Amino acid sequence: MALRCDLIIRDAAVFDGTAAPRFNADVGIAGDRIVAVGDLGSAAADEEIIASGKAVAPGFIDAHTHDDRAVLCGPECMLCKMSQGVSTVVVGNCGISLSPVRMATRPVPPLDLLGDEAWWTFGSFGEYADRLRRDPPPVNTYALIGHMSLRVEAMSGDTRRAATDKEAEHMRRRLADALAEGASGFSTGLYYPPNMMAPTDEVIAVADALREAGGIYVTHMRDEASDVLASIEETLRIGRSVNAPVVISHHKCSMPENFGRSAQTLAAIDVAAGNQRVDFDVYPYPAGSTVLMPERARSDVPVQITWSVPHPDCAGRMLHDIAKDWGLELRDAAERLLPAGGIFFQMDEQDVQRIMAHRLAMIGSDGLPHDAFPHPRLWGTFPRVLGHYARDMGLFSMEEAVHKMTGHTAEVFGMIDRGVIRAGAYADLVLFDPTTVRDSATFAEPVKPAEGILKTWINGQLTYVAGRGAVAERAGRLVTRNGG
Ligand code: ZN
Ligand code: CU
Repeated sequence: MALRCDLIIRDAAVFDGTAAPRFNADVGIAGDRIVAVGDLGSAAADEEIIASGKAVAPGFIDAHTHDDRAVLCGPECMLCKMSQGVSTVVVGNCGISLSPVRMATRPVPPLDLLGDEAWWTFGSFGEYADRLRRDPPPVNTYALIGHMSLRVEAMSGDTRRAATDKEAEHMRRRLADALAEGASGFSTGLYYPPNMMAPTDEVIAVADALREAGGIYVTHMRDEASDVLASIEETLRIGRSVNAPVVISHHKCSMPENFGRSAQTLAAIDVAAGNQRVDFDVYPYPAGSTVLMPERARSDVPVQITWSVPHPDCAGRMLHDIAKDWGLELRDAAERLLPAGGIFFQMDEQDVQRIMAHRLAMIGSDGLPHDAFPHPRLWGTFPRVLGHYARDMGLFSMEEAVHKMTGHTAEVFGMIDRGVIRAGAYADLVLFDPTTVRDSATFAEPVKPAEGILKTWINGQLTYVAGRGAVAERAGRLVTRNGG
């Protein structure tokens, strides 16, 4: 019997997500799966796309996001990702997850990156997962539980200290419950004030829930600057102590005095990778973005304001200029802007490239979808890696670039049948033009859809078409570790 498909994409250059050389083939889709890859000359389909000269890849997996709330508010909130060919996002990073904690007042920074108290209504991960089942997300969603969210709940907001054994045990149980309800791992943000008083032993005590559940440990480390090597050691120790694979978030060597040190950090990670599972994510820009912390202002690190509650008109401006206008020191101007967020130009381009090119690197945007004037990584990360870094600069092949945003990522997080193009895998796909794909978003104009991303499918449903925007509301699902 002849093969029958809902859709056949014909004669595309197939990047299959494994880093294997691209090959020309037809890709057949039925229901939510890829059913055949090859010469499907005789097969019939309800719809056919002739894709000669175009490329098809697995839908991109954004390894590092803060989209916990954005996935709940429909396709308009996720256009930033859908327009990049992203089909799956990992939420709950940096110790920040929208569950399991309710808030009566505005959450302490950086939890407020996800929104004010009105958004903090999920007392358990099960409630968040139920919401995703009832109103499916526009893109597949894979969730981590944040240490900071657990701390605020367990310690009744009094987080500027170590947790007691009883509080740590409470957090461990809450994490275990969440993992049983469909969360896939545990994230920390030990860099941030509400978390930095947590000693390593507290983290290990909570993370112990990962051991039985087989969850993953993901961390925005305590220090990404002068003490970055010690932080890598701490991270590896936590992973070993609870027998969990480790992901170092947005790996970087921060601050001018540490420029060039990625040679050391990557060497240390390489050695460790011989003994335990460790990978990292990275975004393709030499600037980070998070909440504004006045006590950390430095004259040699330019800051661009991304949002400010008392001074919304300052979004997009440089802190330096604002301080001058106000006749204030940097720190005092920053103080006056709070609560606020910023972009911090604190990395070296050579480090960014060395880290991205490493075999263990996954691409993660770390985009902040609710910022008034966001870092361009929110709209530009994936096309920037494909266009600027792979095609134009030749930092690595486009095949490797695709692998860093699909197959490698799915393997690290344990997303079964995703991140690859082969018969039987989920039909998460992106059609793009390999000759024109590029990021358009810049620090001056950050909200701009990429060029050359033509169509995105999620679970077999067409979700995004260039020039038209989102065409399906809710094609995504909750994706779990070692599940679909
Ligand atoms: Zn982070
Ligand atoms: Cu982050």
